[in-house]
Amino acid sequence: MAKRTQTFVCQNCGSVTGRWQGKCEACGEWNTIVEESATAASGPPALRSPRKGRVFALEPLAGEAHETPRLPSGLPELDRVTGGGFVRGSVLLVGGDPGIGKSTLLIQAAAALAKAGHRAVYISGEEAVAQVRLRADRLGLAGALVELAAETSVEDIVATLSKGKPPRLVVIDSIQTMWTDTVDSAPGTVTQVRASAQALIRYAKTSGTAVILVGHVTKDGQIAGPRVVEHMVDAVLSFEGEGGHQFRILRAVKNRFGPTDEIGVFEMTGLGLQEVSNPSELFLSERDLGAPGTAVFAGIEGTRPVLVEIQALVAPSSLGTPRRAVVGWDPSRLSMVLAVLDAHCGVRLGSHDVYLNVAGGLRIQEPAADLAAAAALVSSLANAPLPADAVYFGEISLSGAIRPVAQPTARLKEAAKLGFGRAIIPEAGRADTAAESGLAITAIAGLSTMVADIAARGTRPRLAETRG
Ligand code: TYD
Ligand code: MG
Repeated sequence: MAKRTQTFVCQNCGSVTGRWQGKCEACGEWNTIVEESATAASGPPALRSPRKGRVFALEPLAGEAHETPRLPSGLPELDRVTGGGFVRGSVLLVGGDPGIGKSTLLIQAAAALAKAGHRAVYISGEEAVAQVRLRADRLGLAGALVELAAETSVEDIVATLSKGKPPRLVVIDSIQTMWTDTVDSAPGTVTQVRASAQALIRYAKTSGTAVILVGHVTKDGQIAGPRVVEHMVDAVLSFEGEGGHQFRILRAVKNRFGPTDEIGVFEMTGLGLQEVSNPSELFLSERDLGAPGTAVFAGIEGTRPVLVEIQALVAPSSLGTPRRAVVGWDPSRLSMVLAVLDAHCGVRLGSHDVYLNVAGGLRIQEPAADLAAAAALVSSLANAPLPADAVYFGEISLSGAIRPVAQPTARLKEAAKLGFGRAIIPEAGRADTAAESGLAITAIAGLSTMVADIAARGTRPRLAETRG
């Protein structure tokens, strides 16, 4: 009989300690260590006499190619993020807040595959079959030949799936509800999640089925428990969105078979998730034309140009330490832009609260957004609306110079397509880009040029306000 031992496992990183501790020494998280019972068989291997190894055949790298390793899902926005479809035998983890639409997205993907004549299986550990059917009904997918089950035992699932022709796609919703007999811990604990994921990954590799695992996200945005699972799977996608918005953004966090900078944009409607093939139109659709403090940034997400509005509000502060709040952008990037505005352009915001928001729930990671953010900030401070038909891009260096950014032509073309008339862009590297876009180009070399320009049109001429 296997000896039972108590172990203490960090639910964040999965490291094991011999006793309970308040802080995990491996990852530094507090209150994440939980007691889990494990049979010695699943713990560190006991010393046993080594068994005689089985001889296996080694294969040449230049072996025969199998049939198309990628299977397009039928949802182009999803395929864009995965890098062209589901890879045979690969395992994908989809994370996201509760209610963001993970189940909806995956039942739609499974239905699209089934419609194309492939075998697709959807296993729900959270909802009853009737609930999944009800949702599919609402989505108009009731006719799709997706095979459903409400199951949580990994052994039963693998046994069932191994019967007959292997499916092309299996969705497991969610990995936290799965449990396997091989370990004793409760479902949802790191040990269970890891063992269940391992079993499902093994199934995917041996059968060639693409497996999608749904993972829940904790309040600080990490996929709960399965931090460890992130290392085991081939790709991690994160499904994001802002509470009040209907936009949903699918982003690859890790991808062994494709790029990680592409985003897929969806809109949650009464009929499920609709794909948005031109996100710029969506992000700019509710624009406050002519209000001070808004600037349009011509960005690039992966291979696709995306225009998005950056909103800033600058107001005198009543606090000793003024507030800096950012949604959708890097707060340290904002601090840097504020410091450059202060040091090189005489824009003093030390006694002002500063709020910056990227409209539509998009999260921008490019430094190219610096210039648009600075324009929005100065526009708000000076109460000077920016021209409604202008787009901005450029990276601000600490010296106050504007540095060129990647793919200026694609950015300008997208702006021209959406009816914008002018662009404020870096002076460096403009020659080859400006000619063909058809926009009126203002090329600037330093941030102070743009600041002076905006301030001249404002109703608060003196930018540098100092109090007390
Ligand atoms: P769901 O896919 O259950 O989210 P998750 O699996 O990530 O927890 O999505 C649930 C939300 O989506 C719910 O708040 C209602 C909304 N929704 C729609 O707006 N339209 C629809 O057609 C469907 C199916 C859901
Ligand atoms: Mg769900």
